[in-house]
Parts: sequence; structure tokens; C-alpha cells
Amino acid sequence: PPPTVLLLALASQVLVLENGLLRKPPMGWLAWERFRCNIDCSEDPKNCISEQLFMEMADRLAQDGWRDLGYVYLNIDDCWIGGRDAKGNLVPDRKRFPHGIAFLADYAHSLGLKLGIYEDLGNFTCMGYPGTTLDKVVQDAQTFAEWKVDMLKLDGCYSTPQERAEGYPKMAAALNATGRPIAFSCSWPAYEGGLPPKVNYTLLADICNLWRNFDDIQDSWRSVLSVLDWFVTHQDVLQPIAGPGHWNDPDMLLIGNFGLSFEQARAQMALWTVLAAPLFMSTDLRTISAQNMDILQNPLMIKINQDPLGIQGRRILKEKSHIEVYLRPLASEASAIVFFSRRMDMPYHYHSSLARLNFSSSVVYEAQDVYTGDIISGLQDKTNFTVIINPSGVVMWYLYPIRKLEIPQQ
Ligand SMILES: *[C@@H]1O[C@H](CO)[C@@H](O)[C@H](O)[C@H]1NC(C)=O
Ligand SMILES: *[C@@H]1O[C@H](CO)[C@@H](O)[C@H](O)[C@H]1NC(C)=O
Ligand SMILES: *[C@@H]1O[C@H](CO)[C@@H](O)[C@H](O)[C@H]1NC(C)=O
Ligand SMILES: *[C@@H]1O[C@H](CO)[C@@H](O)[C@H](O)[C@H]1NC(C)=O
Ligand SMILES: *[C@@H]1O[C@H](CO)[C@@H](O)[C@H](O)[C@H]1NC(C)=O
Repeated sequence: PPPTVLLLALASQVLVLENGLLRKPPMGWLAWERFRCNIDCSEDPKNCISEQLFMEMADRLAQDGWRDLGYVYLNIDDCWIGGRDAKGNLVPDRKRFPHGIAFLADYAHSLGLKLGIYEDLGNFTCMGYPGTTLDKVVQDAQTFAEWKVDMLKLDGCYSTPQERAEGYPKMAAALNATGRPIAFSCSWPAYEGGLPPKVNYTLLADICNLWRNFDDIQDSWRSVLSVLDWFVTHQDVLQPIAGPGHWNDPDMLLIGNFGLSFEQARAQMALWTVLAAPLFMSTDLRTISAQNMDILQNPLMIKINQDPLGIQGRRILKEKSHIEVYLRPLASEASAIVFFSRRMDMPYHYHSSLARLNFSSSVVYEAQDVYTGDIISGLQDKTNFTVIINPSGVVMWYLYPIRKLEIPQQ
């Protein structure tokens, strides 16, 4: 055939690299939001990015109930790299990671955890460490596999859109070729504005297990709201592409840090869960309070986040009263409902009914309040109910049918 036809045939070949991983949103711990690029181990030895920090977090994940609830990923972010050796292989900073990354992976595995690592497709990482340029993609994938790494977050600083369009699929293929199952977290869409036509989410779902769509989260409620608003504004685009093995990532949980009140911490957890988001904590697990642990370790919350259908929820109602309702369909005809208040005055008495939320009239439901454990029984579509929602807080229900009503003959 003439060359143009051949090129078209090649271009239309879909590169699907289904690695079978992350059928449920990943859960774990990621260093960035809390520990950033703190590399001053003489000034701040307990909190600098070092092997010791990751080993201490690994111990906490294993010993304080996290791992057994599903928080198994221990993920390194930027600022671990020391340079490249004579063969061009990545090496960690010798002072801060004296035993190397393979040692840290072994340590994580010995505790039943998985190790995630970070690199950047481009000349440098965002903090200026050596990046993975296109000619280094295969070599770096092999290095990560040799170290027995289980996840790669590939950032996108210091590259062009063309380099990213070539590099992310190339890294997916290179990871696949190592033969080691390595979950792939792509920051690609966040660098292209997060929306079609610049972002092809069909392609992303074929090559990445999760992707950052939007800006980095910061330790404030304002930042949580900006992320949430962006996800809700674009939910018609984003909601359908999430599913088992491929997730939208609104970024880390701030719970346990400094910027959120108790109500706001509960709200972030509930909203991220209803969005089928990855649950990456980024907090100091050595000093986290019992109250924040309760939020993050709520078993029903985690069950909902990890629902096998993997359907991302949506905002279904936005009231003039500044109450919003979010709904996520779950297995066994259950649903998660989040009543969220953006009010700034006092606890609000929100009156509604399942009919108003478009639930079937032929079923009797029961709900469990995810935070209090209270059971609300005998809910029929016309049953009026009231939920009391605190300012910048949520009420979250796990709603399930308990019986079908006889449908009267027409
Ligand atoms: C590589 O991709 C193929 C095709 O989707 C898949 O069968 C295989 O499991 C993948 N291997 C790894 C290690 O991801
Ligand atoms: C990466 O480095 C090369 C070589 O120095 C340079 O030509 C290119 O402009 C750089 N790319 C970016 C996106 O900074
Ligand atoms: C998006 O990627 C998919 C899978 O690679 C491809 O089939 C499709 O043509 C692409 N869509 C656009 C608009 O480029
Ligand atoms: C209920 O369904 C109607 C009709 O399809 C639709 O207009 C409305 O937005 C739905 N409401 C909710 C809360 O889903
Ligand atoms: C529920 O409330 C609506 C309006 O507030 C009212 O019209 C209706 O009669 C109430 N239904 C029941 C079953 O009490």
C-alpha cells in the first residue's frame, strides 16, 4: 500500500495495556502534600524525605490497622533522586536513602505493603531533579521493575505537549515490557487542562490506571472546594471514564493536617469516596489524632469507596439553600448519598424525600448513616425526611433496598 495508508493503519491501532491492576481505587499513603521537598535532614531529621521517613510510615501502616483496611500503598513522591550513575541508571540520594530503593521495596513487601515511586516525564522533575527524557523511558522502567516497585507516578514538568503525547504511552509500554505488574499514575491530563479535545480520556484509560486531572491540592478548605468545583463542573466528561482499573484522581486526602476543620475533614472523605477517588493519605501517621483516624478508618466508608462496580458518583442536586446532594450507585442496588452543606451559618435542617432524588416508588429502603451508624428504616419514596447538616459538613447515607412493594395492577 502507499505509505500514507500504512501510517493511518498504524495510528489507528489501539495500544491497550491492561495490566489487571487497581480494579478498585488505590488506597495508601503518599508523601507529597504533607512532607513536600523537605530535604534538610540535619535541621528536620524526623520529617525530611528519607528512607527513615518511609520506613516509619510503613511501620504505622502495618501496625495501626491501615494495611488491613486496604491502605497498602507506601508512595514516594519528588526529591528522592540523587542522579544517574555511569550507565545512566537512576540512583537515589545516597545520604537520605543509604540502602537504596530496592531495600525500601523489600521492607514494604515484608510488611504486606506495596511501594510506589515518582518520576517526571521531562528534563527535570518539578523540583528540579533528573527527569525521564524520552530516551530514558525504557531504562527507567527497567530500573523500577528491578527494584520491585509496584506503582509509578509520572509527573509532567519540563516537557512539551508533544513529548508527553509520545512519552506516556511509551512508558506504559515500557512498564508492560518489564513483565512486572506496576500500577501507572499519569499526571498527563493535568498538564493539558484536563479536558477534551486536548485530553483523550479513552487513550488514558487504555494506558494508565489513574490520572491527575487538575491542580495539586493544598492544605486548605479553599483548595478542596476548588478541586471539587472543577470535578463537578466537568462531571459529564469525567464521570463516565472512571471505572475498574482506570480512575480520576482529585489528589490526596488532607485529613490529619492543618487546613481542615473536623467537619471539613469528614466532608473531604465523604466526597472523595462518592467520587470513587483514590484514597491517598498524606499526613503524619506517627502523630495523627484518634478523631482523624476514625474518619479515615471508617469501615463502611471504605467499603463504599471500594465498591466492586467502580462507578464514580455525581452531584445530582444543587439547592438554592446551598445544600448539594451527591449520589454514587453501588453493587446490590445500594447507593451512597452525600448531603453536603456549603452554608456558613449553623446546622441546616434539610427536608427531602427519596422521590425528590428519583428513587423507585416500588421499593422500601433503609439507610445507615456512615458517620454515626444510625439506621433510618422504612423509607419509601414519599417519606419525608430531615437531615441536619453542619456548615461545610456532610451527612452521608449508605442506602439499600429491603423489600419490593407489590405494584398495583393498572
Ligand atoms: C501487558 O499487556 C498485556 C496486554 O494487555 C497484558 O495481557 C499483560 O498482562 C500486561 N503485562 C503487564 C506486566 O502489565
Ligand atoms: C529539554 O532540554 C533540551 C536540551 O537541553 C532542550 O533543548 C529542551 O528545550 C528542554 N525542554 C524543555 C521542555 O524544557
Ligand atoms: C482517542 O484514543 C482512542 C484510543 O487510542 C482512539 O481510538 C481515538 O481515535 C482517540 N480519539 C481522538 C478524538 O483522537
Ligand atoms: C429526576 O428526574 C428528572 C426527569 O428525568 C430530572 O429532570 C431531574 O433532574 C432528576 N432529579 C435528580 C435529583 O436526579
Ligand atoms: C411531605 O412534605 C410535602 C411538602 O413539604 C407535603 O406536601 C407532603 O404531604 C408530605 N408527605 C407526607 C407523606 O407527609
